[in-house]
Amino acid sequence: MTEPAFVSRTRSSYDTIAAAYAARFTTELAERPLHRALLGYFAELVGEGPVLDVGCGPGRTTGLLRSLGVAVAGVDLSPSFLAIARAENPGVVFTEGSMLSLSVAPGSLAGLLANYSLIHIPDETLPEVLAGFHRALRVGGHVWVAFQVGDEPRHRTEFDGHEIDLVFHRRQPEQVATLLAEAGFDVRVRVVRQPEPEEPTPHAVLVARKRPDSDLL
Ligand SMILES: C[S@@+](CC[C@H](N)C(=O)[O-])C[C@H]1O[C@@H](n2cnc3c(N)ncnc32)[C@H](O)[C@@H]1O
Repeated sequence: MTEPAFVSRTRSSYDTIAAAYAARFTTELAERPLHRALLGYFAELVGEGPVLDVGCGPGRTTGLLRSLGVAVAGVDLSPSFLAIARAENPGVVFTEGSMLSLSVAPGSLAGLLANYSLIHIPDETLPEVLAGFHRALRVGGHVWVAFQVGDEPRHRTEFDGHEIDLVFHRRQPEQVATLLAEAGFDVRVRVVRQPEPEEPTPHAVLVARKRPDSDLL
């Protein structure tokens, strides 16, 4: 099956900027205490795992969860990001793949993260991606979604002097919560924080749990 053009563009854009991006955001998690606290909460929800960090990028969130005792692996489109993730997190398995076709046994995951990765999926493809997340999780398993809050997508053509072609889909928490509910999840947590001075938008984190009997949906 040929992959959609937006997936190819996302992969080649991140491959171009992986090193610059990883260097720019080295201290991102250290500077976001609320995000770290929520990830700590998520780690308690999922216990030992297994957890898949989908769109793991340089693997910083994956590494934090690992340090909290969670059996976590990462998957991403970008080979350059995966090389950085492997170098920074020895012992953690990082695999190349797309969230549109996850290679995960149905019902096998205790948790799945999409930390600023669904932002590269257009609205019309979100139900299909969330259905895949739902299939991969066991009943009672938890999904984490983080994204920038807004109404209009942002198209970036440059990052750190590199030419890219990346669309960032900003969304309202209600919109994502509705899609999660339609995919068979109970939305348990919705947190919105206001932007830091250098950020253009508020940020949202949603945590949802796979409903019993929702495999029948
Ligand atoms: C903004 S970065 C976030 C990276 C990481 N989750 C973090 O929080 O640092 C978005 C990531 O999502 C990945 N991504 C986008 N679309 C994807 C897809 N269809 N399948 C897998 N990964 C994808 C990109 O390659 C990139 O690594």
